[in-house]
Amino acid sequence: MKYKIVTRSRVGLPVLILGIGCFIGSSCSNTRQQSSDTNTSVKGLKYYYRDYFTMGVAVSPWALKTDEAGLIVDQFNGLTPENAMKMGPIHPMENQYYWKDADSIIAFAKRHNMKVRGHALVWHQQTPDWLFKDAEGKQVSKEVLLQRIKDHITTVVQRYKGSIYAWDVVNEAISDDPKEVYRQSKFYQICGDEFITKAFEWAHAADPDAVLFYNDYNEINPVKRAKIIAMIKQLQSAGVPIHAVGLQAHWAINEPTEAQLDQTFKDFIELKLPLQITELDISVYSKEHNARDKKVPADADTAYTTEKEDLQTKQYGMCFKLFRKYKDHLTGVTFWNISDRHSWLDDFPVRNRKDHPLLFNRNLRPKKPYTAVIDF
Ligand code: G3I
Repeated sequence: MKYKIVTRSRVGLPVLILGIGCFIGSSCSNTRQQSSDTNTSVKGLKYYYRDYFTMGVAVSPWALKTDEAGLIVDQFNGLTPENAMKMGPIHPMENQYYWKDADSIIAFAKRHNMKVRGHALVWHQQTPDWLFKDAEGKQVSKEVLLQRIKDHITTVVQRYKGSIYAWDVVNEAISDDPKEVYRQSKFYQICGDEFITKAFEWAHAADPDAVLFYNDYNEINPVKRAKIIAMIKQLQSAGVPIHAVGLQAHWAINEPTEAQLDQTFKDFIELKLPLQITELDISVYSKEHNARDKKVPADADTAYTTEKEDLQTKQYGMCFKLFRKYKDHLTGVTFWNISDRHSWLDDFPVRNRKDHPLLFNRNLRPKKPYTAVIDF
C-alpha cells in the first residue's frame, strides 16, 4: 500500500512522491487506493473531519518548499502563518513592510484551495523596536501608539482582504496573574484597554467580511477563562465587532482532563460566539508554564517512548472526542507546527529539550495518536 504525497516542483508542476507502507497503527484500508490521478489527495485529517470543522496547521514559508508541503496539502485545508504576519516580521520599520513571507503563504493557500487565518494583528511579543518609541527614543504617547496600531491594522488587513477569512486581532491580552485582569504589556501600559476595542473596530473597518477573533492560551484555567469571558462580554455589550474566540490549546499528556476541557467548552459556549482551537499541540512532558533550563536527569530523556506514545494517544483521542461533541460551536482546529520535525516546544518550557507534540513524526509518518484522531 502506498501513501502518496503530492507536492509541486519549483515550476508548480505536481510531483508524485511515493512513500511505501501503511499509516502506523491504522489498517491499510484507511488509506486511499493508489491512483494515477495526481489531482486527488489521500484521505487526510481534512477528509475525516470534512463534516465537522476546518483542519488547519501553522506554517513557515520555508516549510512550504520542503516535503512537508505534500503532507500539508494531503492532511489540511487551513493555514496559519506561524510568524510571518506578526507585527515585527511584517512591519519591521515604521515606513517599511515586509510582505514576501506572508505573501508566499497566501499564494500556497490559493494554489491548494486552503483557508488562511491571519495571526496576529496586536500581540505583546515580536513587536518591532520602533513601535513604542518616538524620534528621540522616548516612549510614545497613547495617541501616537493608537495611530500606529490603526495604520498597521488597516494596511495589513486591507492587503489580505479576500485572501484571509479570519484574524487573530488581539492575542493574549489577559494576564496569567490571578491578581490582574489585563497583561501589563506596553500596549496596556500606554493605552489602557482601549487598544483592544480599537483594534477590533479598525480590523472590521478594513475588512468587514473577516471573522475577528480574540485569541489566548491557558484557557482551561478557570480563573483566566473567567477573565477572558468577562472581557469579551464587556466588548460585546459595547458593540465592539468581536466575532469569535480562539482557544490556543497548548496542552500536554497530563492536562487538560476530560472534565476540565468539557467545562471549558461549556463556559465559552455561553458567549454564543464561534470557537476555534487555534494552536493545538500536546506535549509528551507534564505541563509547565515557565521557561527554564534543563535541571533534572529526566530533562535529558527526550525519546518518544511507548509510554509517552500511549499517553499522547489517549489525550489526543479524548480531545477530539470533545471537539466532535462540540462541533456545532467549533469552526476550526489548527495544529501549531506540522510534524515532530520541529515544534516551538523543542525550546519551551525547557530550552533545547526535544518534544514530540504533533500527529506526524519526523519522517512525516502518522503516529499512533493520528489513529485515535481519525478512528470514530
Ligand atoms: O526569524 C528570526 C531569525 O532571523 C533570527 O536569526 C532568529 C534568532 O533570533 O530568530 C528568528 O525569529 C524567531 C521566530 O520564532 C522565527 O523562527 C524568534 O526569535 C522567535 O522568538 C520566534 O518564536 C515564535 C514565538 O511565537 C514568538 O514568541 C515561535 O516560532 C512561534 O511558534 C510562537 O508562536 C506563539 C503564537 O504566535 C502565539 N501563541 C503562543 C505561541 C507559542 O509561543
